[in-house]
Amino acid sequence: MLPIVDKPLIQYAVEEAVEAGIDQMVFITGRNKSPIPNHFDKAYELESELEAKGKKELLKIVQSVIPDHVSCIYIRQAEALGLGHAVLCALPVVGDEPFAVILADDLIDGHGKGCTAQMVSQFERFGGSVLAVQNVEKNETDKYGIVKATQVEKGIHQITSIVEKPKPSDAPSTMAVVGRYILTPRIFDLLQVTERGAGNEIQLTDAIAKLLKEEKVYAYEFKGKRYDCGSKLGYLQATVEYGLKHTELQEQFKAYLQALKF
Ligand code: G1P
Repeated sequence: MLPIVDKPLIQYAVEEAVEAGIDQMVFITGRNKSPIPNHFDKAYELESELEAKGKKELLKIVQSVIPDHVSCIYIRQAEALGLGHAVLCALPVVGDEPFAVILADDLIDGHGKGCTAQMVSQFERFGGSVLAVQNVEKNETDKYGIVKATQVEKGIHQITSIVEKPKPSDAPSTMAVVGRYILTPRIFDLLQVTERGAGNEIQLTDAIAKLLKEEKVYAYEFKGKRYDCGSKLGYLQATVEYGLKHTELQEQFKAYLQALKF
């Protein structure tokens, strides 16, 4: 729920999914996460108050939090057993269909076309799971799932191995998975037999390592810029850059930054 300028991160994630043609959102939440369903619920009291006061612009913003054709399902993950376990929690809703995973703390400005929509296009072309990747510094490999892959064409690689958070000396490359995945439903069977891995958690990466022995899995170098909003610096960078692009704020904010003395 951390806001970037005027919207919580989860709202950016939902907008990116909607843009990609996804109309069913499954939120894996946990204890103390009730602000998330509350945010996407219809805000009757607020809407009637804004209507009564004639605040049309604000009313429009409140009403456009989620489009009418999109449904939201909330699943509570009782214990934080890892990303793989969180994804497995969605099995009863997703069933036997391909699906996207969006980790909302990775904010991606797709520069025209959202990262998930770009990945859906690649999934449609290649018919296999697609992971968004970017190159990172060698000393940062222990923060990410790292892939080894063979180039298929510019920006698309077939993954031959994947490992969760390797030490720089053990990393097979510097191609890091960011928080966007399009996965085939076979991943659920594999997650069910995935033991706890790095950090004593059930890792999505470990299930993907099994998946790529059975199906082609692709690494896609997305177009755009990623902000790691799980880090203080990434969060500040996103705030500044989204502030500089915000139609209402950009001029004043730019002037403010230019006047700052360092
Ligand atoms: C998770 C995944 C990791 C991936 C990262 C992207 O890690 O386990 O493979 O590279 O997201 O943000 P986390 O950041 O949750 O530790």
